Amino acid sequence: MVLTVTSVEKRFGKVSILNGVSLTLAAGEAVALTGESGSGKSTLLHMIAGLEPMDAGEITINGKALENLRDAERATLRRENIGIIFQQFNLIPSLTVAQNLSFQARLTGRSVDIDALASSLGLTEHLAKYPEQLSGGQQQRVAIGRAVAASPKLILADEPTGNLDEATGDAVFDLLVTAAHDKGAALLIVTHSNRLASRADRRLHLRHGHFQ
Ligand SMILES: Nc1ncnc2c1ncn2[C@@H]1O[C@H](COP(=O)(O)OP(=O)(O)O)[C@@H](O)[C@H]1O
Ligand SMILES: [Mg+2]
Repeated sequence: MVLTVTSVEKRFGKVSILNGVSLTLAAGEAVALTGESGSGKSTLLHMIAGLEPMDAGEITINGKALENLRDAERATLRRENIGIIFQQFNLIPSLTVAQNLSFQARLTGRSVDIDALASSLGLTEHLAKYPEQLSGGQQQRVAIGRAVAASPKLILADEPTGNLDEATGDAVFDLLVTAAHDKGAALLIVTHSNRLASRADRRLHLRHGHFQ
């Protein structure tokens, strides 16, 4: 398994947010995560990325338990194994599309075929542009390209289509599912849309602190 989450609990102060959440993700599997606003979807993704501590339970990435790692080891595990796409595109404004695409891969010392990546994302004509010169959908495709360029084993996407119109959102969602299938990555993708969730291989719905 690329990812195992076992009986994870999370509280903020006295408020229990996650109350025994378990899931497993295999290589090449695309899973949609749904749930009302405030149900804890982002919190769960942050904990899987090792960016937020948990109160109980266990999370393993590629068989390594996060809580057994020091901060620096956790950062390395994240950099080498996880591609993260946030709702805000988080592109670097002073870098071109080509430079943004190769950014994370360069941090991990992996070489990237930028032309092939840009072609698969429909960004070939935009490689020399800066993020502010792109539409929202184009920027989100760059963010996806950057996250998948280093061939992560796990892709975490937090409402990546939230700011996009329906047609662009559908295209971005399908692009991520296809990337997971083609590259054998495990994908966990948060969406508000039941229609989009049904396009994933499997669906998990978070309610009252656990999956239903
Ligand atoms: N750092 C934090 N401190 C206190 N409460 C938080 C914090 N982060 C999130 N919460 C609360 O936890 C709940 C779940 O938040 P979140 O994971 O962002 O939900 P979702 O992504 O499903 O909308 C919300 O009630 C939110 O207000
Ligand atoms: Mg959220």
